[in-house]
Amino acid sequence: MLSITDAISSRHSVRGFLPAEVPPDTLQAIFGLAQQAPSNCNTQPWVVHVVSGAACEALRQRLCQAALDPAAHAPDFPYDGRYDGVYRERQHDAAAQLHSAMGIAREDKAARARSFLRNFGFFGAPHGAFVFLPEPFGLREAADCGLYAQTLMLAMTAHGVASCPQTSLSFHPAIVRDALGVPPVHKLLLGLSFGYEDPAHEANRCRVARAALDQTVRFHR
Ligand SMILES: Cc1cc2nc3c(=O)[nH]c(=O)nc-3n(C[C@H](O)[C@H](O)[C@H](O)COP(=O)(O)O)c2cc1C
Repeated sequence: MLSITDAISSRHSVRGFLPAEVPPDTLQAIFGLAQQAPSNCNTQPWVVHVVSGAACEALRQRLCQAALDPAAHAPDFPYDGRYDGVYRERQHDAAAQLHSAMGIAREDKAARARSFLRNFGFFGAPHGAFVFLPEPFGLREAADCGLYAQTLMLAMTAHGVASCPQTSLSFHPAIVRDALGVPPVHKLLLGLSFGYEDPAHEANRCRVARAALDQTVRFHR
């Protein structure tokens, strides 16, 4: 088992997976561990649906089909992907790192679009997880779900399982709810693709840096 320091340092977004499924007992261990995530008043507002096998394949097909029409994107929580200033710089840097790892030139719009569409096929992963926030929860409980998602990804890392958190997997909530029998009051916040990393996949060469500590954290006394 990895130390917490090693798990935090080695986790990275993986965008190319091997077909092998994660064994059921490992899934139980990972999702059981993630339940330790903290939350406001211990409300544990996350509702999580995990897809594997035929359920994963069916959603992969439907989401890939729906993604072909960007006008049909209808996330429960608005997202336009536009950032300003330093946030825009970081967004561009992350995209540039990914495209460079994949050998995609900046001006090659078609290749960039194809790369984006891979999101909806779970990047080839044998599993997906969808994190829903029940109504009427809001921003604070969404933060709880974010803490849950990172705890989940670290639990995966500790078990040798790779992941990619994805806002893009929340662009078609109606399809996901319909496929999984989720009630309309459960709003889709994000999805994750997960499984075993394909070390040969070019997208997995991508590593993005972080801002210097003094750009995001102030120490006071
Ligand atoms: C909430 C959330 C949503 C994200 N959505 C996507 C996504 O839709 N597609 C994608 O390829 N990466 C997505 N990412 C991954 C980020 O691009 C990635 O975390 C960031 O660039 C830092 O890289 P790292 O995870 O490898 O450290 C998302 C990350 C988070 C935390």
